[in-house]
Amino acid sequence: MSVAKPATDNQPAKPFLKWAGGKRKLCDFLTESSPANWNRYFEPMMGGAALFFHLQPKQAFLSDSNPELVNAYRVLRDSVELLIEELEKHQDSEEYYYRIRELDRSPDFLKLGNVVRASRLIYLNKTCFNGLFRVNRKGHFNVPYGKYENKFSVAKEDLLSSSAALQNTEISLGNFQAIEEQVEKDDFVYFDPPYLPISKTSSFTSYTREPFGINQQVELRNFCEKLSAKGVKVMVSNSNNEFIRGLYADFTLREVLAARAINSKSTKRGKILELVATNY
Ligand SMILES: C[S@@+](CC[C@H](N)C(=O)[O-])C[C@H]1O[C@@H](n2cnc3c(N)ncnc32)[C@H](O)[C@@H]1O
Repeated sequence: MSVAKPATDNQPAKPFLKWAGGKRKLCDFLTESSPANWNRYFEPMMGGAALFFHLQPKQAFLSDSNPELVNAYRVLRDSVELLIEELEKHQDSEEYYYRIRELDRSPDFLKLGNVVRASRLIYLNKTCFNGLFRVNRKGHFNVPYGKYENKFSVAKEDLLSSSAALQNTEISLGNFQAIEEQVEKDDFVYFDPPYLPISKTSSFTSYTREPFGINQQVELRNFCEKLSAKGVKVMVSNSNNEFIRGLYADFTLREVLAARAINSKSTKRGKILELVATNY
C-alpha cells in the first residue's frame, strides 16, 4: 500500500462524503468566524468535516459517534489505495444498491473487514437518496436508492487528496464529550451538532441510533462552558430559534443564511438563517 503525500496548498481537499447538515457552502463564513489564533483543531461531530478540509489544520482531532463513519475516515487515511480498489468493484443499479444496503442486517457485518465496510459507506453515500446517512432504531441504514442519472464513479483524485489531508489527524469514535481529556487551553473546537427539527414534519435527526434532542443540546452547551473555563476557543453551529438563542445567550451570536439542501420535499428547499455561537 502506498501512503498519500501530505496535503499542500496546491492540493485542495474537499469532503469525500455528502453529509446532511454539511457545512461546505458556509466554510468562508465559518473561517471568518474562527479565532485569529489557535493551536490544535478539534471537530468532535465531524460528519463530512467540511471545515476541517477547508482549513487543513496542521494538527487535528476528528471524531464522531457514528462507527461506520469513523471507520471510513480511518480507512481513507491509512489504506486509500485498497479503498479505491474496493470502490471500483461496485455497480450502480437499484437491485445492487439494496443488496449492499442489506449487509448491516447480518450478524456477520463487522466480519466484512474495515476496507469493505468503508467502501460500502462511500458507495451508499454517493448512490442513496440525497446523500443522507440515516439509520433506524436497530442501527440499520435505511435510506432508499437515489435513482440519479449520473452513475456512480470513483472520484480517485478527490479520495487521494482527502487522504493526504488526513495524514496528521487523530480519528476517534465517541461522544463529543470524549475530547475533554485531550483538549487544552488555546485549542480550537468546532461543534456542529444535529439540529433540533425546525417543524414537526421535518423528521431527519437520526444520523446515529441515539437521538440528539433538547437534553443533548443542553449537555453540549454545558460542555462548551466547561471548555471556556479551560481557555479553549469554541465555535458552535446551530439552528436559529429562541431555545438555542437562550442556551447561548452568554456567547457571541452571529447569523448566517444557509441553503437547506436536504429535505425530502424539493419545494421546501431554500435559504434559512442559522446561528454560529463563539466564546471569543
Ligand atoms: C450536522 S452533522 C455534522 C456535519 C459536518 N459539520 C459537515 O460539514 O459535514 C452532525 C454529526 O454529529 C454526529 N453526532 C450525533 N450525535 C453525536 C454525539 N453525541 N457525539 C458525537 N457526534 C455526534 C452525527 O453522527 C453527525 O455526523
